[in-house]
Amino acid sequence: MLKDRVAMVTGAAQGIGYAISEEFAKQGADVILTDYNPKVTEVAADMNKNYNGKIVGIVLNVMKTDSIQAALSTIISDYGKLDYVVNNAGGGVLKPFAELTDDDFDKTINLDLRGTFLCMREEIKLFLKQGYGSIVNTGALGSIYNPGGMGAYNAAKNGIMGMTQAAAVDYAENNIRVNCVAPGLTKTPLNEGGFLEKILPTVPMKRCETAAEVAKVFVFVASEATFMTGQTILSDGGVSVGLK
Ligand SMILES: NC(=O)c1ccc[n+]([C@@H]2O[C@H](COP(=O)([O-])OP(=O)(O)OC[C@H]3O[C@@H](n4cnc5c(N)ncnc54)[C@H](O)[C@@H]3O)[C@@H](O)[C@H]2O)c1
Repeated sequence: MLKDRVAMVTGAAQGIGYAISEEFAKQGADVILTDYNPKVTEVAADMNKNYNGKIVGIVLNVMKTDSIQAALSTIISDYGKLDYVVNNAGGGVLKPFAELTDDDFDKTINLDLRGTFLCMREEIKLFLKQGYGSIVNTGALGSIYNPGGMGAYNAAKNGIMGMTQAAAVDYAENNIRVNCVAPGLTKTPLNEGGFLEKILPTVPMKRCETAAEVAKVFVFVASEATFMTGQTILSDGGVSVGLK
Protein backbone atom coordinates (compact mmCIF):
# COMPACT_ATOMS: atom_id res chain seq x y z
CA MET A 1 0.00 0.00 0.00
CA LEU A 2 2.79 2.43 0.92
CA LYS A 3 5.33 1.08 -1.55
CA ASP A 4 7.75 3.81 -2.68
CA ARG A 5 6.73 6.04 0.24
CA VAL A 6 9.35 7.19 2.72
CA ALA A 7 8.56 7.62 6.41
CA MET A 8 10.65 8.88 9.32
CA VAL A 9 9.80 8.33 13.00
CA THR A 10 11.54 9.95 15.98
CA GLY A 11 12.03 8.11 19.27
CA ALA A 12 11.76 4.82 17.37
CA ALA A 13 14.23 2.57 19.19
CA GLN A 14 11.46 1.19 21.41
CA GLY A 15 7.83 1.57 22.48
CA ILE A 16 5.24 3.38 20.39
CA GLY A 17 7.81 4.83 17.93
CA TYR A 18 9.09 1.34 17.17
CA ALA A 19 5.54 0.09 16.62
CA ILE A 20 4.72 3.01 14.29
CA SER A 21 7.87 2.26 12.28
CA GLU A 22 6.91 -1.40 12.05
CA GLU A 23 3.39 -0.52 10.86
CA PHE A 24 4.85 1.69 8.10
CA ALA A 25 7.15 -1.21 7.19
CA LYS A 26 4.25 -3.71 7.15
CA GLN A 27 2.46 -1.43 4.72
CA GLY A 28 5.50 -1.44 2.40
CA ALA A 29 7.09 1.94 3.10
CA ASP A 30 10.79 2.63 3.37
CA VAL A 31 11.26 3.59 7.02
CA ILE A 32 13.91 5.59 8.81
CA LEU A 33 13.88 4.85 12.52
CA THR A 34 15.54 7.67 14.48
CA ASP A 35 16.42 7.97 18.14
CA TYR A 36 19.06 9.60 20.31
CA ASN A 37 19.93 6.14 21.56
CA PRO A 38 22.55 4.73 19.15
CA LYS A 39 21.01 1.26 19.51
CA VAL A 40 18.46 2.49 16.92
CA THR A 41 20.76 1.42 14.08
CA GLU A 42 20.79 -2.21 15.29
CA VAL A 43 17.06 -2.13 16.04
CA ALA A 44 16.39 -0.95 12.48
CA ALA A 45 18.77 -3.51 10.95
CA ASP A 46 16.85 -6.26 12.80
CA MET A 47 13.52 -4.92 11.57
CA ASN A 48 14.87 -4.79 8.02
CA LYS A 49 15.29 -8.58 8.07
CA ASN A 50 11.50 -9.03 8.24
CA TYR A 51 10.26 -6.50 5.67
CA ASN A 52 10.83 -5.69 2.04
CA GLY A 53 11.24 -1.96 2.56
CA LYS A 54 14.60 -0.28 2.96
CA ILE A 55 14.66 0.18 6.71
CA VAL A 56 17.52 1.99 8.41
CA GLY A 57 18.31 3.65 11.71
CA ILE A 58 19.77 7.13 12.13
CA VAL A 59 20.83 8.77 15.37
CA LEU A 60 18.77 11.95 15.86
CA ASN A 61 18.39 13.96 19.04
CA VAL A 62 15.15 15.94 18.87
CA MET A 63 16.57 18.53 21.26
CA LYS A 64 19.34 19.55 18.84
CA THR A 65 18.63 21.44 15.63
CA ASP A 66 21.90 20.39 13.98
CA SER A 67 21.14 16.72 14.66
CA ILE A 68 17.66 17.04 13.10
CA GLN A 69 19.05 18.90 10.08
CA ALA A 70 21.81 16.32 9.56
CA ALA A 71 19.32 13.41 9.68
CA LEU A 72 16.91 15.08 7.25
CA SER A 73 19.70 15.88 4.85
CA THR A 74 20.95 12.26 4.94
CA ILE A 75 17.42 11.04 4.22
CA ILE A 76 17.04 13.37 1.23
CA SER A 77 20.41 12.40 -0.18
CA ASP A 78 19.65 8.64 0.26
CA TYR A 79 15.95 8.54 -0.73
CA GLY A 80 15.40 11.77 -2.66
CA LYS A 81 12.25 12.63 -0.69
CA LEU A 82 10.37 12.23 2.58
CA ASP A 83 6.59 11.64 2.55
CA TYR A 84 5.66 11.20 6.21
CA VAL A 85 7.18 12.09 9.55
CA VAL A 86 5.99 11.09 12.99
CA ASN A 87 7.36 13.21 15.82
CA ASN A 88 7.02 10.65 18.58
CA ALA A 89 10.02 11.16 20.89
CA GLY A 90 8.72 12.40 24.21
CA GLY A 91 8.08 11.71 27.83
CA GLY A 92 8.16 13.77 30.96
CA VAL A 93 8.29 14.05 34.71
CA LEU A 94 4.93 13.16 36.26
CA LYS A 95 4.43 14.72 39.70
CA PRO A 96 1.76 16.75 41.49
CA PHE A 97 2.05 20.38 40.48
CA ALA A 98 3.69 21.83 43.57
CA GLU A 99 6.31 19.06 43.65
CA LEU A 100 7.63 19.82 40.16
CA THR A 101 11.09 21.36 40.33
CA ASP A 102 12.37 23.96 37.85
CA ASP A 103 14.48 21.21 36.36
CA ASP A 104 11.52 18.76 36.04
CA PHE A 105 9.55 21.44 34.20
CA ASP A 106 12.43 22.41 31.89
CA LYS A 107 13.28 18.80 31.05
CA THR A 108 9.69 17.97 30.14
CA ILE A 109 9.11 21.09 28.08
CA ASN A 110 12.50 20.76 26.36
CA LEU A 111 11.98 17.19 25.26
CA ASP A 112 8.29 17.19 24.45
CA LEU A 113 7.36 20.69 23.37
CA ARG A 114 10.64 22.21 22.19
CA GLY A 115 11.80 18.91 20.66
CA THR A 116 8.58 18.64 18.67
CA PHE A 117 8.84 22.30 17.66
CA LEU A 118 12.43 21.94 16.40
CA CYS A 119 11.56 18.82 14.39
CA MET A 120 8.41 20.37 12.92
CA ARG A 121 10.23 23.53 11.88
CA GLU A 122 12.98 21.65 10.04
CA GLU A 123 10.50 19.18 8.49
CA ILE A 124 8.27 22.01 7.27
CA LYS A 125 11.25 23.75 5.63
CA LEU A 126 12.02 20.52 3.79
CA PHE A 127 8.37 19.95 2.84
CA LEU A 128 8.07 23.50 1.50
CA LYS A 129 11.02 22.82 -0.84
CA GLN A 130 9.60 19.45 -1.84
CA GLY A 131 6.05 20.77 -2.32
CA TYR A 132 4.20 18.39 -0.01
CA GLY A 133 4.46 16.37 3.20
CA SER A 134 2.55 14.99 6.15
CA ILE A 135 3.49 15.44 9.81
CA VAL A 136 1.96 13.58 12.74
CA ASN A 137 2.88 14.77 16.22
CA THR A 138 2.39 12.79 19.40
CA GLY A 139 0.05 14.06 22.06
CA ALA A 140 -1.26 12.18 25.07
CA LEU A 141 -4.39 11.99 27.13
CA GLY A 142 -2.70 14.89 28.83
CA SER A 143 -3.29 17.01 25.69
CA ILE A 144 -6.93 17.21 26.70
CA TYR A 145 -7.77 15.28 29.85
CA ASN A 146 -6.19 15.37 33.32
CA PRO A 147 -5.69 12.16 35.26
CA GLY A 148 -3.75 14.24 37.83
CA GLY A 149 -0.06 14.64 38.57
CA MET A 150 0.83 15.85 35.08
CA GLY A 151 1.44 19.61 35.35
CA ALA A 152 4.51 19.85 33.11
CA TYR A 153 3.54 16.96 30.82
CA ASN A 154 0.06 18.42 30.27
CA ALA A 155 1.57 21.80 29.45
CA ALA A 156 3.86 20.21 26.88
CA LYS A 157 1.26 17.91 25.30
CA ASN A 158 -1.37 20.65 25.23
CA GLY A 159 1.23 22.89 23.60
CA ILE A 160 1.88 20.23 20.95
CA MET A 161 -1.84 20.24 20.16
CA GLY A 162 -1.70 24.04 19.77
CA MET A 163 1.42 23.96 17.58
CA THR A 164 -0.24 21.31 15.42
CA GLN A 165 -3.19 23.63 14.79
CA ALA A 166 -0.95 26.66 14.17
CA ALA A 167 1.34 24.93 11.67
CA ALA A 168 -1.61 23.23 9.96
CA VAL A 169 -3.18 26.62 9.21
CA ASP A 170 0.13 28.20 8.16
CA TYR A 171 0.86 25.50 5.57
CA ALA A 172 -2.51 24.08 4.52
CA GLU A 173 -2.19 25.76 1.12
CA ASN A 174 1.27 24.25 0.62
CA ASN A 175 0.12 20.60 0.56
CA ILE A 176 1.51 20.10 4.05
CA ARG A 177 -0.77 18.43 6.58
CA VAL A 178 -0.01 18.57 10.30
CA ASN A 179 -1.97 16.41 12.75
CA CYS A 180 -1.49 14.88 16.16
CA VAL A 181 -2.37 11.46 17.58
CA ALA A 182 -2.84 11.10 21.31
CA PRO A 183 -2.29 7.53 22.47
CA GLY A 184 -4.13 6.10 25.44
CA LEU A 185 -2.45 4.15 28.23
CA THR A 186 0.06 2.01 26.39
CA LYS A 187 2.34 -0.53 28.00
CA THR A 188 5.86 0.63 27.10
CA PRO A 189 9.10 1.19 29.02
CA LEU A 190 7.94 4.83 29.55
CA ASN A 191 5.35 3.97 32.14
CA GLU A 192 6.88 1.12 34.07
CA GLY A 193 6.62 1.81 37.79
CA GLY A 194 2.93 1.66 38.72
CA PHE A 195 1.45 4.71 36.94
CA LEU A 196 -0.33 2.62 34.36
CA GLU A 197 -1.87 0.26 36.94
CA LYS A 198 -3.12 3.25 38.95
CA ILE A 199 -4.95 4.82 36.00
CA LEU A 200 -6.25 1.59 34.42
CA PRO A 201 -9.48 1.34 36.49
CA THR A 202 -10.63 4.69 35.02
CA VAL A 203 -10.37 3.45 31.42
CA PRO A 204 -13.88 2.56 30.15
CA MET A 205 -12.46 -0.27 27.99
CA LYS A 206 -10.69 -1.64 31.10
CA ARG A 207 -7.46 -2.45 29.33
CA CYS A 208 -4.31 -0.81 28.01
CA GLU A 209 -3.81 0.02 24.37
CA THR A 210 -1.12 -1.94 22.57
CA ALA A 211 1.58 -0.01 20.76
CA ALA A 212 0.60 -1.89 17.58
CA GLU A 213 -3.01 -0.65 17.91
CA VAL A 214 -2.13 3.02 18.18
CA ALA A 215 0.55 2.65 15.48
CA LYS A 216 -2.22 1.93 12.95
CA VAL A 217 -3.89 5.24 13.86
CA PHE A 218 -0.61 7.15 13.33
CA VAL A 219 -0.01 5.56 9.94
CA PHE A 220 -3.61 6.12 8.82
CA VAL A 221 -3.48 9.81 9.81
CA ALA A 222 -0.08 10.23 8.15
CA SER A 223 -0.91 8.53 4.88
CA GLU A 224 -4.66 8.14 4.30
CA ALA A 225 -6.45 11.03 6.01
CA THR A 226 -5.75 13.35 3.11
CA PHE A 227 -8.32 16.08 3.94
CA MET A 228 -7.51 16.14 7.64
CA THR A 229 -5.22 18.78 9.06
CA GLY A 230 -4.78 20.47 12.45
CA GLN A 231 -6.54 17.66 14.32
CA THR A 232 -5.67 15.80 17.50
CA ILE A 233 -7.08 12.28 17.39
CA LEU A 234 -7.45 10.42 20.68
CA SER A 235 -7.11 6.65 20.73
CA ASP A 236 -7.85 6.24 24.42
CA GLY A 237 -10.34 3.45 25.16
CA GLY A 238 -13.01 6.03 25.98
CA VAL A 239 -11.20 7.90 28.76
CA SER A 240 -11.75 11.37 27.34
CA VAL A 241 -15.50 10.95 26.95
CA GLY A 242 -16.49 9.55 30.31
CA LEU A 243 -15.71 7.71 33.50
CA LYS A 244 -17.09 4.25 34.16
N1 LIG B 1 3.12 4.94 26.74
C1 LIG B 1 2.01 5.63 26.94
O1 LIG B 1 1.10 5.23 27.70
C2 LIG B 1 1.82 6.94 26.24
C3 LIG B 1 0.55 7.54 26.33
C4 LIG B 1 0.35 8.77 25.68
C5 LIG B 1 1.38 9.35 24.98
N2 LIG B 1 2.60 8.75 24.93
C6 LIG B 1 3.64 9.44 24.15
O2 LIG B 1 4.10 8.55 23.13
C7 LIG B 1 5.47 8.83 22.84
C8 LIG B 1 6.29 7.56 22.95
O3 LIG B 1 6.10 7.02 24.24
P1 LIG B 1 6.64 5.58 24.64
O4 LIG B 1 5.72 5.10 25.71
O5 LIG B 1 6.89 4.75 23.45
O6 LIG B 1 8.03 6.02 25.31
P2 LIG B 1 9.41 5.23 25.50
O7 LIG B 1 10.09 5.91 26.62
O8 LIG B 1 9.16 3.76 25.59
O9 LIG B 1 10.18 5.54 24.13
C9 LIG B 1 10.60 6.85 23.85
C10 LIG B 1 11.76 6.79 22.86
O10 LIG B 1 12.16 8.15 22.65
C11 LIG B 1 13.59 8.20 22.68
N3 LIG B 1 14.03 9.55 23.06
C12 LIG B 1 14.01 10.13 24.27
N4 LIG B 1 14.57 11.35 24.24
C13 LIG B 1 14.95 11.55 22.94
C14 LIG B 1 15.57 12.61 22.26
N5 LIG B 1 15.99 13.73 22.91
N6 LIG B 1 15.78 12.49 20.93
C15 LIG B 1 15.42 11.38 20.27
N7 LIG B 1 14.85 10.32 20.87
C16 LIG B 1 14.59 10.41 22.20
C17 LIG B 1 13.99 7.14 23.71
O11 LIG B 1 15.34 6.74 23.55
C18 LIG B 1 12.98 6.04 23.40
O12 LIG B 1 13.45 5.16 22.42
C19 LIG B 1 5.88 9.94 23.80
O13 LIG B 1 5.74 11.19 23.14
C20 LIG B 1 4.87 9.83 24.94
O14 LIG B 1 4.71 11.03 25.63
C21 LIG B 1 2.84 7.57 25.53
